[in-house]
Amino acid sequence: MSEAPTLDAPVAQAPKLPPSPRLPRPLGALAFVASRRRTVNWLTRTYGRCVTIRIPVFGDAILVSEPALAKQIFTTSPEVLHNIQPNLSRLLGKGSVFGLEGVAHRQRRKLLTPPFHGKSISTYEAIVEQETLREIASWPDGVEFETLEPMMRITVNVILRAVFGAEGAELQQLRELLPKWVTLGSRLSVLPTPVRPPGRFSPWARLAAYRRTYEGLIDNLIAQARRDANLADRTDVLSLFLRSTYDDGTSMSRGDIGDELLALLAAGHETTASTLGWAFERISRHPKVLERLVAEAAGEDNTYRQATIFEVQRNRTVIDFAGRHVAAPMYDLGPWRIPQGFSIMVSLLQLHQNPEVYPDPQRFDPQRFVDEKPSTFAWVPFGGGTRRCVGAAFANMELDVVLRTVLRHVVIQTTSAPGEKVHNRGVAFTPKKGGRVVVYRRAVPLG
Ligand code: HEM
Repeated sequence: MSEAPTLDAPVAQAPKLPPSPRLPRPLGALAFVASRRRTVNWLTRTYGRCVTIRIPVFGDAILVSEPALAKQIFTTSPEVLHNIQPNLSRLLGKGSVFGLEGVAHRQRRKLLTPPFHGKSISTYEAIVEQETLREIASWPDGVEFETLEPMMRITVNVILRAVFGAEGAELQQLRELLPKWVTLGSRLSVLPTPVRPPGRFSPWARLAAYRRTYEGLIDNLIAQARRDANLADRTDVLSLFLRSTYDDGTSMSRGDIGDELLALLAAGHETTASTLGWAFERISRHPKVLERLVAEAAGEDNTYRQATIFEVQRNRTVIDFAGRHVAAPMYDLGPWRIPQGFSIMVSLLQLHQNPEVYPDPQRFDPQRFVDEKPSTFAWVPFGGGTRRCVGAAFANMELDVVLRTVLRHVVIQTTSAPGEKVHNRGVAFTPKKGGRVVVYRRAVPLG
């Protein structure tokens, strides 16, 4: 027998939202588009570390930079918080990790983990070193140049070889196609999808043409891998996709393979290259840091280089937000109650600039991480929780090997020029002038 409701019975709870700026909504949205970082900084200073905002594309959103709330978000069940909507899957295909939720997401992550984990990573080091040496060979001696573009080429080539398993003609064609496609895709990803079919010469039509060329090249790579007598020993991620099965014995579909490889490239190339561009921008302005890095690069230790990488990622964070979408009817976030459909934007940048966690946060100082390892929820360039960057260990290896190789082969000239401003490239925030440096080739490489 059911009990009659009493006055104490639970009632459907009303939302309880964090403070929101007293601005006309269109003005707030405009400020966000025109200068995202400055607006977020102002919102945090004025309204605190949990703010309700309305932003273009993502709609009603909660901006979070309170460490305890960030931790709660990253540890909340993925059934309650889904991936941010829209995300990269809108343009790169629904079959990649970005577009998957629940069990499908968990299973794909399980499939992706082995090649991006621990020991497997070291099998890719030789590729990173080769690609770095190939770029260094064309660097001018004593003439200032941008490091960002060479770093973009290194990171594309590394992913094409280590992840796509591409060599020869396909490598060449993918090298030409992918950077322009990814750049266009990431720019369009923050725009609303056109309501009417796009015209023949619109950027959306160009995107579709790039996709057709891409699928043809992936067909060739799959056919070659299947013919390869050494498929069982190959270490590239595509071979692993072809060899592995899910728990129920099924394999990844052809469509999902194409989407996933593309997502790995889109997520892993500009982010890593931008971090490297900042690394050169930072160390050329900090002579004492550079001196220690050079001394260390002559040997096998990488303690200080690793601390420098952590600090570059904190001090010059390239991805601003990790976003989630409230899928449950209501989400209790600290003292707030956030209704279904809201976006939750964890500001990775604001977490890294929190003076209570990082005293004098603007100061670039790798020493912060020499004796103390980064904390899981305060150092978050790779996001957190079940959606934390799957390529984090791969990216860290790549940053380490590129830096080591450059330090061993060239002398980087220090400069007293002011730090480069920040530029929004679409996916990542890069040094505005491209991380310009002057280098001189070493007669005899270190190490
Ligand atoms: C310095 C370089 C990189 C940075 C700063 C970075 C940052 C991020 C961030 C912030 C996220 C979102 C995490 C979240 O929502 O909690 C992410 C997700 C992701 N990253 Fe990275 N990333 C980097 C390199 C890479 C590389 C090298 C790869 C692969 C080759 C990669 C593949 C991915 C994928 C597939 C996801 C989606 C994970 C999921 O939804 O389950 N990333 N990354």
